[in-house]
Amino acid sequence: MKSLCVLSTMIYFAGLIGLLLFLTAEARIGNSSESAFCTETKECLLYDLVCKTDSYEVRHYEAAKWVTTNEKSVVLEKAMYTAFMRVFKYINGSNSNGVNIDMTAPVIIKIDQTKKIWQSSVYTLSFLLPSEYQVDPPQPTDDKVYFTDLPDMNVYARTYGGYLMSFTNSYNSIQLKKQLDKVQATYIEDSYYAVGYDSPKKMLHRHNEVWYVADGAPVCPSPF
Ligand SMILES: *[C@@H]1O[C@H](CO)[C@@H](O)[C@H](O)[C@H]1NC(C)=O
Ligand SMILES: *[C@@H]1O[C@H](CO)[C@@H](O)[C@H](O)[C@H]1NC(C)=O
Repeated sequence: MKSLCVLSTMIYFAGLIGLLLFLTAEARIGNSSESAFCTETKECLLYDLVCKTDSYEVRHYEAAKWVTTNEKSVVLEKAMYTAFMRVFKYINGSNSNGVNIDMTAPVIIKIDQTKKIWQSSVYTLSFLLPSEYQVDPPQPTDDKVYFTDLPDMNVYARTYGGYLMSFTNSYNSIQLKKQLDKVQATYIEDSYYAVGYDSPKKMLHRHNEVWYVADGAPVCPSPF
């Protein structure tokens, strides 16, 4: 009886959250002053916080266009460097209009989870296009650089400080996965995102995240 009551309360809250998200849907690439951890770029990807536990946040992101490349490697660091420089060239004038495009935050790296640790995997790195280039960005001159439209999505996010490296990233992704499995959350398991907000020159209060994309209604803590 009690579990039925909790369940119906959960369904009620899920519906309420769905309604709130529907009412607030709008483009969410905005002034970094609206974010506590975007400190080095003019614009960053904003989101609506759906709920929060001690170990993760559920966030809702609007659909957005990103500029992307992918790189196969055994280690994250190597792929990250090569891919970052390739996309950086695109915003640094290597595009059909020869324009400089502002850097944004975060930089996201989609990591394929279907490979064993010693096998090389594909790392897909993306920069968020600033709001003025969301609709009609200039074409990349490098054919390894392309655009990606990420859909409207809910993500489970875990935050950590320091530098984004293979070790810190996989440690935090494993911790997040454990927490999600504990609450029986459903999420896309084939891949996750390593998310960075800071340039290497920032020394203090660095902010990184790992994201798993929710599959179906996100599991939020009980309000009681
Ligand atoms: C961002 O917000 C700050 C503070 O509210 C403001 O001074 C600045 O002009 C804004 N920047 C842009 C690009 O809108
Ligand atoms: C960015 O573009 C400028 C001007 O073309 C160039 O001098 C600089 O080396 C480029 N930076 C990178 C990292 O490619």
